[in-house]
Amino acid sequence: MTVRIAQISDAHLSPTRPYFNENFALAQQSVRDMKPDLLLATGDLSLDGADSDEDLAHGVAAHAEIGVEWLSIPGNHDVGDEAVLGGKQPVNAERIARWNRLAGPSAWVHDIPGWRLIGLDTQSLSLGTQWETIERGIRDAGARRIAMIQHKPMAEQRLDDTAINYWPVLPELRAHLLGLFRGALPALVISGHIHQWRDRQVDGIRQVWGPSTGFVVGDGFQETMGNKLVGWVEHAFHADGTHDARLRAIEGLRLHDIKTMPEIYGAQKKVAEAAQ
Ligand SMILES: [Fe+2]
Ligand SMILES: [Fe+2]
Repeated sequence: MTVRIAQISDAHLSPTRPYFNENFALAQQSVRDMKPDLLLATGDLSLDGADSDEDLAHGVAAHAEIGVEWLSIPGNHDVGDEAVLGGKQPVNAERIARWNRLAGPSAWVHDIPGWRLIGLDTQSLSLGTQWETIERGIRDAGARRIAMIQHKPMAEQRLDDTAINYWPVLPELRAHLLGLFRGALPALVISGHIHQWRDRQVDGIRQVWGPSTGFVVGDGFQETMGNKLVGWVEHAFHADGTHDARLRAIEGLRLHDIKTMPEIYGAQKKVAEAAQ
């Protein structure tokens, strides 16, 4: 038996600032046409859900409108981000409560034949509220293979990367998360946030980065680590523990570049500055 899953990421939707809504309408139809068994939204459903009920409610409703069973986890634009990163929207109880009220739990476990999916919020791991759910999910998985569903990727390159920046799970929290596997590792990590497509096996983990349906972050403002494009990802989870992923391009999707749209999130920091 195979479970077919559509992964949509980083739609960045808003009812009042609808820059990426046209792209999302095309993605909605494309996912409907696939008739997946499940839809996974890997964060940044909203343009500014970290400060706006309206944006988050709109983003959630637009994903629900697709009309298939779905699960989601928050992105930094939905709940803010780890305070240590120094951004304008530090994650806190109020922001997490907004997500929980409008979108659902921040961490969850979902079983399909041969696999256990564990969803988590990579922006609030330091608050400690998710460890119990994640730890139990790992501990009771039995023979199932584990796929982590998260907004930020585990690492930009290697699991022992030490850089602290906006893009990956922070090194200390990554070490704690992977330590919960007690010497084993998840088979698969599915993430968003980078707005690039990449699918590779590194350090014993298959790591799939879903692109955004809305925009890329232009050269000079973000390194190219995979492919800068827009689209979504079709996953096939087989009951024997194998898995396939393939990029789905959509005809008519516009390749927006946030570098040229400072009115949305302000001017982007250059790569060298962002790394500081
Ligand atoms: Fe995003
Ligand atoms: Fe993000």
